[in-house]
Amino acid sequence: MKRVAVLISGRGSNLSALIAAQDGSYQIVLVISNVEGAAGLDKARAAGIATQVIPHNGKTREAFDGELDVALRGARPDIVVLAGFMRILSDGFVRGWEGKLINIHPSLLPAYKGTRVHERVIEAKEALSGASVHFVVPELDAGPVIAQATVPVHPDDTPQMLADRVLEVELKLYPEALKLLASDKVALKNGLAVFTA
Ligand code: GAR
Repeated sequence: MKRVAVLISGRGSNLSALIAAQDGSYQIVLVISNVEGAAGLDKARAAGIATQVIPHNGKTREAFDGELDVALRGARPDIVVLAGFMRILSDGFVRGWEGKLINIHPSLLPAYKGTRVHERVIEAKEALSGASVHFVVPELDAGPVIAQATVPVHPDDTPQMLADRVLEVELKLYPEALKLLASDKVALKNGLAVFTA
């Protein structure tokens, strides 16, 4: 059973899905938020999971990441999951957790990295969008993809409508991808996501 820590910044819908999907392969042992009062913290507490707030305000990126690293090491996670964690992590932090750090991004990576994803997808009149779970590497949203799910983009979509449709598939995709990693069916090797039966 793999020990999992989850980092959040907001409402924690993905966190809730990951909590509900806990099985013999993983157990969430700690939830950390950089935002005090993030709704996701209540979801963790309601499930009896330890929580911690590490505010980033007024700290350098390295100082914040250092605190985060100390808190995480204390919980001895095998896997660190970013679930709506809206902070860019320093190269040093990412290298320290290489192969154990995953993220979900609301686009079909490598398309639409970064922010304002749904606005840009609609502006470009894409027919398809979706979500990607990937290993985190120092370059933003550029790590090897573990799993993806697609949704249609409708001509009259607003960014919120598309975000809601993508979120629906995220909530199934993230637990599935985490279970692959937790049961050693995928690993980061030489910069690639390598799958085994
Ligand atoms: C999710 O849609 C996730 O893909 C996105 O933030 C939302 C978090 O929602 N993440 C990113 O944009 C990361 N760059 P949640 O807090 O309800 O899970």
